[in-house]
Amino acid sequence: MAKRVLVLNGPNLNMLGTREPDIYGAQTLGDIAALCQSGGESLGLTVDFRQSNHEGELVTWIQEARGGADGIVINPAAYSHTSVAIHDALKAAGLPVVEVHLSNIHQREPFRHHSYVSAVAYGVICGFGAVGYSLALQALAEKLQ
Ligand code: DQA
Repeated sequence: MAKRVLVLNGPNLNMLGTREPDIYGAQTLGDIAALCQSGGESLGLTVDFRQSNHEGELVTWIQEARGGADGIVINPAAYSHTSVAIHDALKAAGLPVVEVHLSNIHQREPFRHHSYVSAVAYGVICGFGAVGYSLALQALAEKLQ
């Protein structure tokens, strides 16, 4: 049976394409969703791709993933650097988590160097732009075999 992967995106990622394209690239979130759907299909994964600007909504989706998904790919965006709630929800979900960032957060402002999500992810991918999502799905497909 196809493994189910929840791909979550945090605040402001709905603005991709027009938002600081020199940092985040020219691709829209719709382009990245399409990339994940086709990449997931070829890896035998069913991808549920979502975005929210609200921390609580992301927490609820993570809670629902327990029992409803086999793994999570998450770009928590700015919540990476602030959200104990997302850290706790991911830990409680008990599912394998891959954290993705389009940009190389370690090359940027110091406040982006720490992520509360990294401690509950088994892997972190950053700096490869949209390709990072494909890499995350590949890693998760391998892990879920
Ligand atoms: C980001 C990096 C975060 O620091 C930032 O707040 C984002 C996007 C990335 O994908 O590079 O919104 O997660």
